[in-house]
Amino acid sequence: MPAEFHKLQISGIVQETHDTRSYILDVPKTLREEFRYRAGQFLTFEIPWKGMLLRRCYSLSSAPETDPRPKVTVKRVDDGRVSNWFNDELEVGDTIAVQPPEGRFVLRTDEGDHGVVLFGAGSGVTPVIAILKSALRSTERDVKLVYANRDEDSIIFKDELDLWLAEFPERLEVVHHLDRESGFMSVADIQEHLRGWEEAEFFVCGPTEYMDIVEEAFKVAGIDPAQTKFERFNSLPDPDRRDESADIVPEQADDEIPESFTIVLEGEAHTVPYEKGATLLDAAVKAGHKPPSSCEDGYCGCCMALLKSGSVSMACHDALEPSDIERGWILACQSRPSSHEQLEIDFDAQY
Ligand SMILES: Cc1cc2nc3c(=O)[nH]c(=O)nc-3n(C[C@H](O)[C@H](O)[C@H](O)COP(=O)(O)OP(=O)(O)OC[C@H]3O[C@@H](n4cnc5c(N)ncnc54)[C@H](O)[C@@H]3O)c2cc1C
Ligand code: FES
Repeated sequence: MPAEFHKLQISGIVQETHDTRSYILDVPKTLREEFRYRAGQFLTFEIPWKGMLLRRCYSLSSAPETDPRPKVTVKRVDDGRVSNWFNDELEVGDTIAVQPPEGRFVLRTDEGDHGVVLFGAGSGVTPVIAILKSALRSTERDVKLVYANRDEDSIIFKDELDLWLAEFPERLEVVHHLDRESGFMSVADIQEHLRGWEEAEFFVCGPTEYMDIVEEAFKVAGIDPAQTKFERFNSLPDPDRRDESADIVPEQADDEIPESFTIVLEGEAHTVPYEKGATLLDAAVKAGHKPPSSCEDGYCGCCMALLKSGSVSMACHDALEPSDIERGWILACQSRPSSHEQLEIDFDAQY
């Protein structure tokens, strides 16, 4: 079952650029524990829009180590429903329905003193600036941000980044790339930025074309996919925009249906009974467990788990990169067993 929505009040709004605003949220004492988060995670909002309830995810641009309150940053998308609603309608003092933080786009805790390299483009800077702040404030790791924008006026958090550079001149490097001056970033440009940072932990967030180029550069440079993390900014499907073909359940032959499978969740292994047709998430919830989930449509990546044994077929996997799938990551809300082999999935594995 996806987490409950809570009404939170907007306690501040910052106009970041001509088309982007940040929204600071007031979390009452009673919800502080539930809204505890890690830098790089996101919130899911539910917005009433023309008689429908629309859901969208927005990454936290705040870090718990540096910002007193959680903050999200929303950039207008041409003809976008919710991003324009945020920028036009939402005011200080309004309340908004929000699910507690989710997501695995966070620093690994076992990376020692390896560097952190962040690739952000446009609004994709949102989760990476949070990780930048967290890494500088709570670790000794060096940090490099490669940040692409259309032009100077589109740079979100320019002043904030300058302040971090002034405070950490030895540990922070920020490279601005402006498409209007230098054209779109190429695989060769990215490779140049990887030099000397080959052992780092990498985070990538931006438009699809940008993320594809960075992923290609990682491949060419021989970066181990286990060192890389990607966050895709998909819109969750609105009730009137659902692609019904995506709901088609993959055929399961009777000999593909195990009687049960194993989940690892919060440090414990559990045997979960399985019935034909159910997703692994549905089966786990039916058995009384609470694995992470939000959209249940394959778009947010909340329900990612590592496949330890057995095999699954996934309906939609928009939230995953090909390299994630190669490494065994699955979306529990979209996966069904595809063989009779003993199936085990691990929700605790570090991404
Ligand atoms: C984990 C996560 C974190 C995110 N973090 C951020 C963030 O920090 N900041 C941020 O700004 N965004 C973020 N996003 C993206 C955000 O959730 C929205 O996708 C974005 O704001 C666009 O939503 P919208 O309602 O404005 O646009 P939508 O109404 O969803 O439209 C998007 C585009 O698709 C076009 N479109 C037209 N017809 C259709 C159709 N039938 N179906 C679909 N699209 C159509 C629209 O015209 C528009 O150009 C994040 C997404 C995810 C999954
Ligand atoms: S819950 Fe969103 S991808 Fe599974």
